[in-house]
Amino acid sequence: MLKLTGVTKSFGDKLVLHPTTIEFEQGKTSVLIGTSGCGKSTLLRLMIGLIAPNTGEVEFDNTPLSKDNLEQVRHRIGYMIQDGGLFPHLTVRRNVTLLASHLGWEREKVETRLHELLELVHLEADLLEKYPTQISGGQRQRVALMRALFLDPDVLLLDEPMGALDPIIRSNLQAELREIFRSLGKTVILVTHDIGEAAFLGDVIHVLQAGRILQTGTFTELVHQPQDPFVVEFINAQRSPVEDLQRRES
Ligand SMILES: Nc1ncnc2c1ncn2[C@@H]1O[C@H](COP(=O)(O)OP(=O)(O)OP(=O)(O)O)[C@@H](O)[C@H]1O
Ligand SMILES: [Mg+2]
Repeated sequence: MLKLTGVTKSFGDKLVLHPTTIEFEQGKTSVLIGTSGCGKSTLLRLMIGLIAPNTGEVEFDNTPLSKDNLEQVRHRIGYMIQDGGLFPHLTVRRNVTLLASHLGWEREKVETRLHELLELVHLEADLLEKYPTQISGGQRQRVALMRALFLDPDVLLLDEPMGALDPIIRSNLQAELREIFRSLGKTVILVTHDIGEAAFLGDVIHVLQAGRILQTGTFTELVHQPQDPFVVEFINAQRSPVEDLQRRES
């Protein structure tokens, strides 16, 4: 569905993405995981054509991304940027429905979809008339997720979509999203720092370090056949609360 071939990216003289070839299969959830600054958001931005690669090619549905097809492609991709990226001068309602209105959706269809999604992300309808600064960080994140899902896109690029949610909402939403991704056969590329979330949602996990993909595999493969000490370190660095308590007491 999405394919990068020999893609590199530099900012100034800093190479932030080494030559990368990676394919994201239709209907699968792929997770990008790795330490801060390793290039996860850069990869997503390349896929949706917000930045252009220095070398190599990005393909969407077997067609290379170009200026001519970029707008069409974007309508098929739901993209949630890190921190949500809501427009501060627009209400929640406008933020979520902007693109659908622009595409000429009928009012009734917009309202139906809006309420479906409110239910999915567990938000109350009275939030719709508020501005992003008038709601909490976790609520903003869920509004941003509604916006990414609104057009029911084939592909979802989600950049740490659940980082600001409390553990209960997060866990519920993970379960519901997994169900949606599976039942509707969505192609999902999800960035997270949370190895548990990666294990729960990811069919395939790509571990990145300093602009390189170190290992690609299922969670089980990463645990049992790690190909690099960093993979072991990254997985082991995330402890359960019980382990944290034992560590504190030892
Ligand atoms: N527009 C830019 N100009 C210059 N450098 C940039 C730009 N965008 C990203 N970088 C640099 O590229 C590297 C990768 O950044 P990126 O945002 O992809 O990291 P990330 O893996 O998403 O990190 P995080 O987990 O903190 O979100 C970092 O060193 C960052 O400083
Ligand atoms: Mg990032």
